[in-house]
Amino acid sequence: MIHSARFLVSNSTVDQCPKSSLPEYAFIGRSNVGKSSLINALTNNKKLAKTSGTPGKTKLINHFLINEAWCLVDLPGYGYAKISKQERKELKTLIQGYFANRKQLVNTFVLIDSRHEPQKIDIDFINALGTQQHPFSIVFTKIDKLSITQRQNNMSVYKSHLLEQGWESVPPLFESSAKNGEGKKEILNYIESINSNL
Ligand code: GTP
Ligand code: MG
Repeated sequence: MIHSARFLVSNSTVDQCPKSSLPEYAFIGRSNVGKSSLINALTNNKKLAKTSGTPGKTKLINHFLINEAWCLVDLPGYGYAKISKQERKELKTLIQGYFANRKQLVNTFVLIDSRHEPQKIDIDFINALGTQQHPFSIVFTKIDKLSITQRQNNMSVYKSHLLEQGWESVPPLFESSAKNGEGKKEILNYIESINSNL
């Protein structure tokens, strides 16, 4: 259960991030996939993280303190085409720096738009996390936009695609809707189970 959630700080480099040793959970994925919206859904606070219908909203590393005990981290999205080369380079450095150096990171949620077939940019990101031995889970977002049949079909296509990457098992998979709250409980229970084993 989340009983308190507050914004801590936004940073443009990992070195400036909070020095405390509180465990943290990062949200990453393509721009506009619903990272900030999911954080708001999990915390029951529509205004906590800034969201937008236009991709490229989140540009910094944003820390939110939960229950005064652990953090949710909202990251900028990758794969947004309509930005300058310079800006893309900076975002890449920010994201890579975060994953390479953030010792407090205990689990990453990679968000995937449940409507689409597996995309190379996401698979590359997932494979890189695996290579770097970062524990991660996958969250299929915006499931409110799909019928039950489409959901089942898209999930199984994705699972097979992951297995084809040569992983021995698929990571934990979640489905979520920031619109109707589906999947929140499962994600929060998962975080709690990790926290209780730290
Ligand atoms: P960037 O910060 O730009 O990388 O985007 P983001 O991944 O943080 O996405 P954000 O949460 O800002 O949401 C993008 C758009 O998708 C907004 O218009 C949201 O309202 C919408 N959205 C997010 N999650 C869901 C969902 O579960 N269902 C539906 N129907 N819309 C969603
Ligand atoms: Mg965002």
